[in-house]
Amino acid sequence: MKTLDTLVARHNNSHNHDSFGIPMLHAQSLCKQVMTAAGELKILENVSLSVAAGDSLAITGASGSGKSTLLGILAGLDQPSSGTMTLHNKELTAMGEEGRARVRADHVGFVFQSFQLLPGLTALENVMMPLELHGRDCARGKAEFFLTRVGLKDRLQHYPQQLSGGEQQRVAIARAFASDPDILFADEPTGNLDSATGAHVIDLLFELNREQGATLVLVTHEQRLAEHCRQRISLEGGKVVERFPMEMACCEAV
Ligand SMILES: Nc1ncnc2c1ncn2[C@@H]1O[C@H](COP(=O)(O)OP(=O)(O)O)[C@@H](O)[C@H]1O
Ligand SMILES: [Mg+2]
Repeated sequence: MKTLDTLVARHNNSHNHDSFGIPMLHAQSLCKQVMTAAGELKILENVSLSVAAGDSLAITGASGSGKSTLLGILAGLDQPSSGTMTLHNKELTAMGEEGRARVRADHVGFVFQSFQLLPGLTALENVMMPLELHGRDCARGKAEFFLTRVGLKDRLQHYPQQLSGGEQQRVAIARAFASDPDILFADEPTGNLDSATGAHVIDLLFELNREQGATLVLVTHEQRLAEHCRQRISLEGGKVVERFPMEMACCEAV
């Protein structure tokens, strides 16, 4: 477990993670189908991808193309109908809900489009709560450190409804990074923000990606955000229709 001192030192050193190689996430032939009144609906078809530690991946595509479903499976929140998913050397598809919850608590952070802050807690308490729930040390110090890092030093005692949308999203980012995740998943993190605030949130995500070395996996339909990521895939009707760079393609079934 990393101490607050280590986090501060890492922030101050702000080292670059340019040695991609160790796979953080590997998905092979993911399929997801559900039964509906109209019959079987294919949501994902044979999606394969790999993301190295410290790297970044953008998932783009039109509304309804399967982005959120894929992100939920990659993050261990949902299970595919078939295919395998490995995160931090742990095969999530071979685990039950309890095992996946443990992997999420130890390694994963989330930022949602709708922020998902608890309305009855202050900004500080929102960031502290998951740390305390998981028995992390120095919850208060870490929460203050990351809220300061996202520019909210003077908003610690504000409740979510007393904060602007951009400020609420920054609290959510501080909350996600405070647990020092190895990998951060964000589903349309700028979807509810105006473009200037969105640009600030994007800068912040990538600064923290560099400083903390966290792998980033983002869902977005904003080209500007996607272009910040070293890897990009585009979904159409649940299938990968474009990849960048091309060498990222990994044994995709046809
Ligand atoms: N549990 C479910 N039951 C039925 N249809 C679903 C379910 N989850 C997602 N879908 C459908 O699958 C498609 C992809 O959904 P989603 O992953 O949320 O897309 P995106 O995030 O790209 O907008 C949509 O058409 C959606 O309605
Ligand atoms: Mg979605």
